[in-house]
Amino acid sequence: MKTALITGANKGIGHEVARQLARKGFHVFIGARNRDAGRKAVDQITKKGGKATFLEIDVADNASVTAAVREFAKAADQLDVLVNNAGIMVDGDDAILEVSDELVRKTLETNTLGALRVTRAFASLLAKSKAPRVINVSSGGGQLTGGADGWAPAYCISKTALNGVTSQLATALPKFAINSVCPGWVRTDMGGRNATRSVEEGADTIVWLASDAPQNLTGKFLRDRKEIPW
Ligand SMILES: NC(=O)c1ccc[n+]([C@@H]2O[C@H](COP(=O)([O-])OP(=O)(O)OC[C@H]3O[C@@H](n4cnc5c(N)ncnc54)[C@H](OP(=O)(O)O)[C@@H]3O)[C@@H](O)[C@H]2O)c1
Repeated sequence: MKTALITGANKGIGHEVARQLARKGFHVFIGARNRDAGRKAVDQITKKGGKATFLEIDVADNASVTAAVREFAKAADQLDVLVNNAGIMVDGDDAILEVSDELVRKTLETNTLGALRVTRAFASLLAKSKAPRVINVSSGGGQLTGGADGWAPAYCISKTALNGVTSQLATALPKFAINSVCPGWVRTDMGGRNATRSVEEGADTIVWLASDAPQNLTGKFLRDRKEIPW
């Protein structure tokens, strides 16, 4: 049975990705920093017949990530798919000249470094897979093509940098398929209720990259299963 770890899988896009991968026969590890929320998300999947295990992980905390690797290794020998989905958006309409260092640092710590440190920590477990895959959940807000529109600057910078992490990792790990995905504007706590896409639609490209996409598709940025400019 293939294994998949999804960070921030207690709700939103991450939970939907976990639900769909469990339906495809993956043993999904529900990565969450909040135990109650994580266990509840596991129950929702197991009730429908999927195989799911809770994994406590705060991607912004090195010690938590290290502990998660140890816990994971007790339950499985290898990791086939890592979805770096956990993310925060703490700035809204704040302008770039007004956001504090602290806010930028906090955002980078989760959205950018979080994905890098989790990938690094799980790299040897991923290397045991015949076809390791890493999907970094990014955002069109991180695209440099066309220039910034000024919205949520710290968040957008963190996603631009996350795309840099994707490209670097794809070069460093040529046997892995490592890509960034923009899920579109999705109705979640982060996206809000006016967003144009359902979580099912937001999860689609991520699930495809985790399961059916060609293994030699790597180092790209995608939306709707198609490459988009960085
Ligand atoms: N929704 C959109 O329109 C949209 C568009 C483009 C990209 N995205 C990206 O899609 C991803 C998922 O977003 P979403 O819309 O599903 O947001 P969401 O509903 O707010 O869910 C975010 C998830 O990330 C978790 N998380 C945050 N910080 C974490 C940390 N330090 N360690 C572990 N988990 C952490 C949250 O856990 P808690 O419940 O504990 O807070 C939650 O499970 C994010 O990377 C986001 O940037 C979303």
